Amino acid sequence: DTVYLNGQFLNKQKARISPLDRGFLFGDGIYEVIPCQAGKLIGFELHIQRLRAGLDSISISLDWSYQQWQDIIESLMKRNQAKDVSVYIQVSRGTDRIRQHGFSQDISPTIFVMCQAMASSAYLAAVDSPELQVMTQLDQRWRNCHIKATSLLANVLHFQHAQRLHVDETLLYNAQQQLTEGSTSNVFVVKKGRVFTPPLDNQILPGVTRAMLIDMLTKHTQIEVVQKPILLSDARTADEIWLTSSSKQVSAVVTLDGVAVGNGAKGKWCDIAQQLFDRLKF
Ligand code: PDD
Repeated sequence: DTVYLNGQFLNKQKARISPLDRGFLFGDGIYEVIPCQAGKLIGFELHIQRLRAGLDSISISLDWSYQQWQDIIESLMKRNQAKDVSVYIQVSRGTDRIRQHGFSQDISPTIFVMCQAMASSAYLAAVDSPELQVMTQLDQRWRNCHIKATSLLANVLHFQHAQRLHVDETLLYNAQQQLTEGSTSNVFVVKKGRVFTPPLDNQILPGVTRAMLIDMLTKHTQIEVVQKPILLSDARTADEIWLTSSSKQVSAVVTLDGVAVGNGAKGKWCDIAQQLFDRLKF
């Protein structure tokens, strides 16, 4: 496997990062995951746009053009003969001389890119995505969830909660009992012929899949998409719940805390959403 690290293409085994890298010490960095199916990057520009916004928001200066990112990704995919992968990009603040909270102005970012096999479901057409079982938990994360930061400890622990209970994802809610998102995904709820999803704010990641799906539903269907807070209690009586992410695409949630959602199988609007998503890819 070849990876990209700070200007070089190297064998993954040979790539080295200093223990004084602030990504390692503090999780001080931003990342992206861009899905690639049949050699085609999905939502490339939106992902790079979010990466740039994230870097900007934590004052890491790196003014790479879309073309620069694309050249590296394409070269990496060619070297790895990769067609169906997720591209992982991580930019940390860089390696300092000592461990200190405050950051020096004179360090340059560590830039790392690799291709990784995706979860097996991500290779499928979205219409064939597996149905998901989901548990809920109070959202324990920080107040800047719109930043795709590499410090993911709370997300990791939330996800592990699902693993421990042998389900697929943990769906999070805030102190007001409103859904925020999944530990690795955004959430949509269908109720009485309308699609609801939490609004973009500091409580959720502005998902690229979320944005593309809202756009397609609005352009190609009659269903109304409403971005407003969703109470957990309303989700419990929803007709359908979906999760979206670069690796899940659009997936139906069929049980919530062990109770069937709707009739306990993928709903008709989820199927329509998945078909729209597939149209975008193939
Ligand atoms: N996760 N919310 C959270 C907390 C996420 O980690 C992700 C993606 C999403 C969906 O965003 P997008 O549609 O842009 O993938 C929402 C990625 C895949 C990950 O961490 O591996």
